[in-house]
Amino acid sequence: MVQTAPQPSSPSVVKQDVQENILTPRFYITDFEKAAALDLSAQADGLEAMLAEMKADYNRFHFVRDDAFEQSWDHITGEEREAFLDYLERSCVSEFSGFLLFKELSRRLKGKSPLLAEIFSLMARDEARHAGFLNKSMGDFKLSLDLGKLTKQRTYTFFPIEWVLYTVYLSEKIGYWRYIIIYRHLEQHPEHHFYPLFNYFESWCQDENRHGDIFKALVRSQPQLWNTWKSRLWSRFFLLTVFVTHSLTVQERHTFYEMLGLDPTDFDTEVIRKTNETAARAFPVYLNVDHPQFFPRLHRCSDRNLQLKAIDAANPPKLLKWLRKAPHLLGIIGDFLRLYLIAPLNAEHLRDEIH
Ligand SMILES: [Fe+2]
Ligand SMILES: [Fe+2]
Repeated sequence: MVQTAPQPSSPSVVKQDVQENILTPRFYITDFEKAAALDLSAQADGLEAMLAEMKADYNRFHFVRDDAFEQSWDHITGEEREAFLDYLERSCVSEFSGFLLFKELSRRLKGKSPLLAEIFSLMARDEARHAGFLNKSMGDFKLSLDLGKLTKQRTYTFFPIEWVLYTVYLSEKIGYWRYIIIYRHLEQHPEHHFYPLFNYFESWCQDENRHGDIFKALVRSQPQLWNTWKSRLWSRFFLLTVFVTHSLTVQERHTFYEMLGLDPTDFDTEVIRKTNETAARAFPVYLNVDHPQFFPRLHRCSDRNLQLKAIDAANPPKLLKWLRKAPHLLGIIGDFLRLYLIAPLNAEHLRDEIH
């Protein structure tokens, strides 16, 4: 492992830009008129109950940095420091992206859909806390993100409201599983607990779980999102996209998971299995992750992605780079299609058992 000398006296740096690629968390906008017009009557009671929970604000005093942060982190160096900072940065951007979307939804829905406007405002509150807390952790490593500047400079991706409901549901639930699995693992293996941020993950993941439940109620309030053939195809697509992205990201950031004493592939597999099981409560279908081809193909995608990164890092002449990358890119697309074609499991059949 390459270790660089710590630089105890180096000043803090505000990072001016965030490198974007297909795996970077995105910033979204949607059709706000359509969002305001959603008929929520089928889930009105559930949403009112969740609004009350959000107002109770159980984590009001949770995101306060304690004395454990008050020390130098210069002993974390080289590849490990880089991997951990990358983890903090991506997590911060992802939390901040949630904040911006919820804030904008709340603003645009005010007066038109008051219940949703209030719920989104409270979810924005939580995500702002999460992003701020992560940014302070980056500060411990003498780097921080200028979130205001990021808001202005980032490109926004348009997603129809239906896609927002599917993908935010999944990202909240996969977020819940990521945080809680790391937390429980470190409870068992305190020797890998290298930074106090992880102490906060237990209550933190409850925020994400609540957000996920709100999106579950929103998905279930719209029958066209679960009782049509199109909804079954879209659910499959978004489940697979979220799982492939997760798998690729975990393998790219394997050093961070190794620092935690986690096997990246085991972690990846457990998060996907749990999220898939959870998604059966909201979506009409869930993926057959026990199919003998499922995880081998998924992991082949992440191996190919690592090859692509290695080619980029070697930086050969442009044409040569594309010639080298093409087979890996085609391989990923091919595996994605084959994974998509694995017949999913019907979640509607489970509905009565689960409730
Ligand atoms: Fe969050
Ligand atoms: Fe969240």
